[in-house]
Amino acid sequence: MSTERGRKICVVGASGKLGRYLVRHALDRGHQVVGVCRERSVGKLDAFAGRITIVPGATNDPEVIRRAVAGCDAVLTVLVPWGVRQYASGTARAVLDHADPGARLVFSCGWHVPRDERDRYSWRFRVSVRVGTWVGRALRVVEVDDQVAAARRIFASDRRWTVVRGSDLEEGASQGLPVWSRHVGDPLLASNRTRRVDYALFMVEALTDDTLVHEAPAIVGRLTPSALAHAGGRPAPDRP
Ligand SMILES: NC(=O)c1ccc[n+]([C@@H]2O[C@H](COP(=O)([O-])OP(=O)(O)OC[C@H]3O[C@@H](n4cnc5c(N)ncnc54)[C@H](OP(=O)(O)O)[C@@H]3O)[C@@H](O)[C@H]2O)c1
Repeated sequence: MSTERGRKICVVGASGKLGRYLVRHALDRGHQVVGVCRERSVGKLDAFAGRITIVPGATNDPEVIRRAVAGCDAVLTVLVPWGVRQYASGTARAVLDHADPGARLVFSCGWHVPRDERDRYSWRFRVSVRVGTWVGRALRVVEVDDQVAAARRIFASDRRWTVVRGSDLEEGASQGLPVWSRHVGDPLLASNRTRRVDYALFMVEALTDDTLVHEAPAIVGRLTPSALAHAGGRPAPDRP
C-alpha cells in the first residue's frame, strides 16, 4: 500500500475502544475511512460524524463487509469472539473473501493465538485460557477458541495479511510504537502491557510496513520494564 495520504481504509469493528483509536489514527494520516459496526453502536462514532462513512451491521455478515470494503486499499479488522456463533472466524472469512485483491489486511487478536510451535506459554497462561474458553462457552458469552480458528484461516490465506497479537491492554497516553517479537514467551514481552492507543498505532503503521506482511507480531509497550530491559534501559528499537 502506498504511504501517500488519502487512501481508503475500512475499519471493521470501528465502534469499540480499539476501533475508535484506529479511526482516529487513520484520519490523522489523511485517509478516507469507512467504519463497520453494529447498528446499535453507530452513536459511539458520533465524534467522527461527517468525517467517516459508516456501514452498520454485523461484522460477520458477508454482504455488510462486501459493501464496506469495496474499493478500499486496506482493511483494519478488530477480531472479537463474542457470542457462540463463530463471530471472529465469520468476520475473518468475510474480510478475506471480499476485500479487494491486493488490499492490505491487518487483524487484531490476543497472545493466546499461537502462530507456530515456537510460541511458549506459561502453565498459568494456558490454564487461564483453558478456563476462560470453557466458562465463556458454557455461559454462551464468548468463544475464545474461535479467535484462534479465525487466525488459522488468515494464516492459511495468500492475502497480504498481518495478525497483530496484543498483550493485556490499558488506557493512557501514547508511549509510541510498541515493540514486537515473532514469538510469545520472548522475555521482551514479559511485562504483558500495551496502551490501547499504541496497539491501534501499530496496526495503522503496519499498513505501510511490508516487512510485516505474513507476520503475526506479538506486541508490548515500548516503555514497559521488559521492553526497556531488552534494550539496555533505552526505549527499545522497533524490530526484534
Ligand atoms: N482487552 C484486552 O486486554 C486485550 C488483550 C489482547 C488483545 N486484545 C484484542 O484487542 C481487540 C480489541 O479488544 P478490546 O478488549 O480492547 O475491546 P474493544 O476495542 O472495546 O472492542 C470490542 C468490540 O467487540 C464488539 N462487541 C462487543 N460485544 C459484542 C457482541 N455481543 N457481539 C458482537 N460484537 C460485540 C464491540 O462492538 P460494539 O461497539 O458494537 O459494542 C467492539 O467492536 C480484540 O481483537 C482483542 O482480542 C484485547
